[in-house]
Amino acid sequence: MAENETQTSPKEPLVKRVVHSIQRDPLPPEDDRGRMRIVMNNLFLHIHPTKTPKASLKFTYTFGLGGLLLLLASVLAITGVLLIFVYTPSPDAAYDSMIALQTEVYFGNLIRNLHHWAGNLMVVVAVLHLLRVFYTAAFSSPREFNWVMGVGMLLIVIAANFTGYLLPWDQLAYWAVTVGISLLDYVPLIGEPITRLLLGGSEVGAATLTNFYALHIAVIPLTLFGIASFHIWRVRKDKITVPRKISEEADQARVTTIPHLVSIEFVFALVWIALLLLWASFVNAPLEEAANPALSPNPAKAAWYFMGFQELLLHFHPVFGAIVIPGMGLLALLAIPYLDRDMDSVGVWFRSENGRWASLLSANLGVIGAFAFVLLDEYWLDLPGWLPFLPSYISNGWIPLAGLLLILIGFYEGMKALKATDCEARQALFTLLFSAFVTLTFIGIFFRGEGMAFVLPF
Ligand code: HEM
Ligand code: HEM
Repeated sequence: MAENETQTSPKEPLVKRVVHSIQRDPLPPEDDRGRMRIVMNNLFLHIHPTKTPKASLKFTYTFGLGGLLLLLASVLAITGVLLIFVYTPSPDAAYDSMIALQTEVYFGNLIRNLHHWAGNLMVVVAVLHLLRVFYTAAFSSPREFNWVMGVGMLLIVIAANFTGYLLPWDQLAYWAVTVGISLLDYVPLIGEPITRLLLGGSEVGAATLTNFYALHIAVIPLTLFGIASFHIWRVRKDKITVPRKISEEADQARVTTIPHLVSIEFVFALVWIALLLLWASFVNAPLEEAANPALSPNPAKAAWYFMGFQELLLHFHPVFGAIVIPGMGLLALLAIPYLDRDMDSVGVWFRSENGRWASLLSANLGVIGAFAFVLLDEYWLDLPGWLPFLPSYISNGWIPLAGLLLILIGFYEGMKALKATDCEARQALFTLLFSAFVTLTFIGIFFRGEGMAFVLPF
């Protein structure tokens, strides 16, 4: 068949041409030059391969989370650029820009709301995407490094939110950033110089606002864009992990990306844009009174994504709560694909029926364990008081850390005794730690009142 038969004629009306080009089977003729020409002429086929495994189109495999992250990043870039037209990054004018957005600028409030909620949602969606990749073992060879890049992007998304947090220059912004940045102070040797560099002085002030603004609108988005491009390119090169059911061969049947995948993505994006617009039309981004460095609120809480760490600080010596334990967690997260080499169950949700139950059990234990630990430490445990002759980095640092590690080793061995395989036991351990951390974050947000005392939210 002549190739021309499948081509649209330039004389056709535009709508018809677009419909034809979407319907056209973009599968190239068998020769490489034909394949290359079709890929080069189509934007979608720069991002996607020409054919996609049919099984991976199933929504409940990826839940479209990676695509949603790209959509949110685009919404942030567009609304962010619009905000720049109104926003002035100086302590005298920043807060007034917020009021102007609310009262004077056409659609200013909507744009600010969209930017605020899309940014916060991005943290949640990046974590959900990480969980989807983890529980389908999609980090396995050859995708190990893509996992590492993913962890890097999660940190960058958090940094983007943190730097953005300061910009409205209200009480919330000023004090959350003051608390958040004080966590850095505990890093031995480099903590203090890095804090001073970021702050541009010894406390949050005009120089901090300029620094955060430059990081927020230029350095961080460009870095994210660079790594995300590399991430997507790797997904294309390594091919997406093919999903399958327990004890079922992977379904290798493939369909053309256009229209099968692209049409799903298009509808998904439209639905999310509608949801975001609806939410941002009715729910305002928080704004308190203008920042007042002389009046600290009580309690002074960090941004919600740092509350798990702020909660850890209440129970451990600061170096352990802010640095050692989060640092160990980060290293373990980065090492996951290099430790887990079990390729048999890649693409199977939770690896096996056993793995599913072990994860469910561990998630519940994580919630109960974290609550029990917080209450125990709040009302009974007092290692520094019981061991006054030891320096606090031992009584409140090394000793509880050793206790924690013993509990985790005991848990891992317990899982294996319950007939979990090595990789199921590792998955259960990750689940336990993740759900405990999320619980600590919830406790920090909802169960901490004046002076960070434990209070009931109801
Ligand atoms: C801004 C952040 C991110 C963006 C824009 C992004 C984007 C994407 C996209 C579009 C895909 C294609 C498949 C899918 O939608 O699931 C993907 C896959 C993948 N992502 Fe991400 N991602 C981000 C963060 C992360 C994080 C935090 C991790 C894990 C730590 C991660 C690890 C991976 C891996 C290993 C794959 C391959 C999955 C497979 O083969 O099934 N990504 N990512
Ligand atoms: C991953 C990317 C980004 C995230 C997560 C993010 C997040 C945020 C957040 C949470 C705020 C505070 C919003 C508020 O409560 O008012 C903010 C403010 C701001 N962002 Fe972004 N942002 C991102 C990218 C960008 C980009 C690319 C630009 C511009 C090129 C930008 C420009 C601004 C400006 C001018 C403000 C101050 C105005 C305001 O607070 O409403 N942002 N950002």
